[in-house]
Amino acid sequence: MKLAERMSHIGTESAFEVLAKARALEKQGKSIIHLEIGEPDFPTPAHVVEAGQKALAEGWTKYGPTPGLPELRETIAGYISRTRGISVAADNVCVVPGGKPIMYFTMTALLNPGDEVIYPDPSFPIYESLIHFLGAKAMPVPLVESRGFSFDLDTLAKSLSPKTKLVILNSPANPTGGVIPKEDLKKIADLLRDRDVMILSDEIYSRIFYETAPESITQFPGMVEKTIILDGFSKTYSMTGWRLGYGVMPEWLADTVNLMAVNATSCTASFTQRAGLAALEGPQDAVDAMVREFKNRRDAMVQALNTIPGFRCSLPAGAFYAFPNVTGTKMSSKALADFLLTEAGVACLNGTAFGQHGDGFLRFSYANSLANIMEAVDRIKKVSSKWA
Ligand SMILES: Cc1ncc(COP(=O)(O)O)c(C=O)c1O
Repeated sequence: MKLAERMSHIGTESAFEVLAKARALEKQGKSIIHLEIGEPDFPTPAHVVEAGQKALAEGWTKYGPTPGLPELRETIAGYISRTRGISVAADNVCVVPGGKPIMYFTMTALLNPGDEVIYPDPSFPIYESLIHFLGAKAMPVPLVESRGFSFDLDTLAKSLSPKTKLVILNSPANPTGGVIPKEDLKKIADLLRDRDVMILSDEIYSRIFYETAPESITQFPGMVEKTIILDGFSKTYSMTGWRLGYGVMPEWLADTVNLMAVNATSCTASFTQRAGLAALEGPQDAVDAMVREFKNRRDAMVQALNTIPGFRCSLPAGAFYAFPNVTGTKMSSKALADFLLTEAGVACLNGTAFGQHGDGFLRFSYANSLANIMEAVDRIKKVSSKWA
């Protein structure tokens, strides 16, 4: 039996492949430090777990409304209005199992074959995977290391064409930790305002930043009408396994996304949504403590990475990834990532797992203890005679 032709165009997320390789090495008795992982190493806050348990005990175990529980959609609308400085309502909110389905549902709803999609390179690999899967045309725009991994705005402007249907933004970003400056967002808004395009603004790391809070493009005139905000609970509340995320978008698109959800998922687990409600409405001190700890690790890790021969790492402004330039090692980033896994027992991701402009970089997640991070850097230094 042959698979459908479209399946030859879909990509994947190689973080899961590296994790599998690392686990196989561990089974053989090798010690591996996991810096490939894209999820916080903190437990879900206790009051959120309790809310989930209480919901199960109370019988929140049945189908719920496809767009999400009304009380959660209301709360999300209030939260997004407050944090982005805009005005959205519950009808703009689609609750889905994680942030990813928002990419899948909105891109499937919007893109025809041949439509052009502008997106950052390097970036979350699922953007490009879905573009190809849907037969749209991938228009990657390189991120610039010297600009804190933001776009060169002239390059972005030149990539726009009458066929551009969607522009994807991600700030704070995976894999670079870059945050798009407010003045750049304003210029991007000016470029897009009079065009018939939509923006997918992936703001899943919106609460994980260190110096300056990230801004949303939706604050600029005319942008709410054109933008899908993707956010969720996975990173902020360390709830990756609960599968709870949402999109905030114009009602005409929300209706279509809900139609896709009826076809694909029916609804998001009801007890999970009750836990999400507790997360948004309850104390936020666990989030603050997590971000404080990430900042300590970021500072220590970046400083330590910069002492490895051939590595040059700038300070990421958000998320929990360091993205050092490793061109000084003269090894390809793929060969280097493989070498570090097998010879140093350090799992990280090759920059090209996020696009061709990720070449020459590695992604290290600091969702691991400070002790393990420092041990990983020591291990890398010990094998650096290979290239130094
Ligand atoms: C940029 C970005 N967007 C979205 C997601 C997906 O989040 P979720 O696990 O909620 O589907 C991730 C997860 O790694 C991410 O890095």
